[in-house]
Amino acid sequence: ADEGMWLPYILGQEVYANMVKKGLKLTKEQLYSINKASIKDAIIIFGGGCTGEIVSNQGLIFTNHHCGYGAIASASSVEHNYLRDGFYAKNQAEEIPSKGLSVQFLVKVEDVSAELMPALKDLKGAEYTKKLQELSAPIVKKATEGTGYEARVFPMFKGNQFLLFVYERYTDIRLVGTPPESVGKYGGDTDNWEWPRHTGDFSVFRVYANKENKPAEFSKENVPLKPKHFLPVSIKGVKENDYAMIFGYPGGTNRYETSYGVKLKTSIDNPSTVNLRDVRLKAMFEEMKKDPAVKLQLASSYAGIANYWKFFDGESKQLLKYKVFEEKQKEEAAFTAWAKGKPEFENLFAEYAKIYAAWEPYAKERVYLTEGILGSPLANYASSLAALEDAILKKLPADAMAKTIATADAARTNFLANENKPSDLKILAATLHMFYNDVPKDQQPAGFFDKLKAAYGDLNDDKTYKTYAAYVFANTMIFDDAKWNAFKSNPDAVTLQNDPAYSYAASFVKNYVGRYLPLYNQFVIANNDLGRRYLEGVIKQAPNKSRYPDANFTMRLSYGQVKSYEPRDAVHYDYVTTMSGVMEKYVPGDYEFDLPAKLIELYNKKDFGQYKDARKNDLVVGFITTNDITGGNSGSPVINGNGELIGLAFDGNYEALSHKIQFDPVFNRTICVDVRYVLWCIDKLGGAPNIINELKIVK
Ligand code: ARG
Repeated sequence: ADEGMWLPYILGQEVYANMVKKGLKLTKEQLYSINKASIKDAIIIFGGGCTGEIVSNQGLIFTNHHCGYGAIASASSVEHNYLRDGFYAKNQAEEIPSKGLSVQFLVKVEDVSAELMPALKDLKGAEYTKKLQELSAPIVKKATEGTGYEARVFPMFKGNQFLLFVYERYTDIRLVGTPPESVGKYGGDTDNWEWPRHTGDFSVFRVYANKENKPAEFSKENVPLKPKHFLPVSIKGVKENDYAMIFGYPGGTNRYETSYGVKLKTSIDNPSTVNLRDVRLKAMFEEMKKDPAVKLQLASSYAGIANYWKFFDGESKQLLKYKVFEEKQKEEAAFTAWAKGKPEFENLFAEYAKIYAAWEPYAKERVYLTEGILGSPLANYASSLAALEDAILKKLPADAMAKTIATADAARTNFLANENKPSDLKILAATLHMFYNDVPKDQQPAGFFDKLKAAYGDLNDDKTYKTYAAYVFANTMIFDDAKWNAFKSNPDAVTLQNDPAYSYAASFVKNYVGRYLPLYNQFVIANNDLGRRYLEGVIKQAPNKSRYPDANFTMRLSYGQVKSYEPRDAVHYDYVTTMSGVMEKYVPGDYEFDLPAKLIELYNKKDFGQYKDARKNDLVVGFITTNDITGGNSGSPVINGNGELIGLAFDGNYEALSHKIQFDPVFNRTICVDVRYVLWCIDKLGGAPNIINELKIVK
């Protein structure tokens, strides 16, 4: 089994030996070193939640299309629709600055457990958190002083080890190229999280630095970064069982989740989230379909909501199918048997039972607020005005007040730029109706629905909610510049409290904050305290076992192999997909399965150039490996035994959507776009040989 998201900087001998056995030809120093250039120097955090890799000596970046998606949509307009049509800069002057986008290089990692653990040992709850912050601050300061670096302390094994990560952040990032969405997101949400896959999920950026090769804000004077290391690109192609290694930033797993946590997820959290997102997505999609401007406006937010809508649904299905709850119960029984007579461990799961029993009755209310009521962008923005109400009631000094207003005002501008009223109206009405139907009556905000009934009619009739939503939209000052400006110049609490959008959002948020947030915080803190102890016990149980900490968006390395699989009885999935498969799925004019005319033309001519796969006599588009990755790894390089790029990881397969909680050694696969398809899309389809010429290609 190729389970494991290993820390490259403390790669155990056993793990490294396994990698070599599977086909790794590099030394540990070539993977990670703080003194010499190593692979880790070519791996970056891309934006807020993705991975990228440096592929040329001029700071060229490869990442996923879905990672560059927001930047591509922002660079697009109805006239220059790069999201729809694709884009390639023919020279560096044509590259498009991506405001707000940054990348981070990992400078080094240090174990700081000895500086933290002794003082934390006997603390719990809020005291623990406070002490941890207190002790981390000087560590971070020391690591960054006078360097321009950033540093963050990460707990590993739920707080049984602490590592300090030091980063260098570059903020002048420019879009170099992207395929049309019909290639970069081919198959859309229908194919998302599934193999066989035919998506060209890549995009190209470049990182710029000042003349000293140091980070700098965007400037025409900046020059392409000279990286410490970049990945060569192999176009030799993949075979079954080939070694494959992935460096990147997996965002989060919870492999030590308890049976209680699994139950809460499958019975309440996931199904509630899925139902609410379903309604929100339908409302957005109806408007996006109609109008290319709305499509560009909502595309990125839609993609994010849809991605995890399908994930949570699949996660629940697989957790149930693989009986993860029952397996966890067995593990917990074994732990409790081992813990007998050890007072710090023996009652652990009885305590878990208690804290889950206390929180569970309110879990649904919380999801219906965060994913439902606040799933309306208007309600969500309005809820942020609570800070303003607070400031007014507390009579903050003039300068603090002015700052609070400026923040609210800037957020409003941002909100209005992204707002699509027709879909939002539907979302507000539908989520409110669902809240009424599904959340226990005694947990609903006091009096809210009685008043709604008195003013708008039958609470079982959709029309009631629609009429109310229309009233909110028509009368809130948030959409009315004159009213807003009047309020801004003379902010008073009553005007805000009487605003229909604010009063709507505030009724629900205050109900939650007053009655359930304290319970939720208690639950989270107790869960953390227990988790820390559980892991301490797990480590004591088998102290010499090779063990990786849960993913937490720190750099990890996973190794595995290219491998086919059998998803169900009598079905075999090959380890590659091809251009012929792209054509099989083609549906002219379809929202998800349309293709660029040029691609079809090149396919008909079989114009695959040096990128053609000899074995398939076709262009290989995607492949799968046994690597252990998760969200955040998107854009990660798939690297062969020689340290060369062979593909980009961009997804996980449906059969293993339970992977955040349990790795399935039989079914788990990572879905990758073959680097030969990436290069073909740039070179032949995109006509941008200038980008190809920058790469170091191994044939
Ligand atoms: N499921 C992928 C991930 O989370 C994202 C894929 C984006 N494509 C899409 N059709 N939504 O890494």
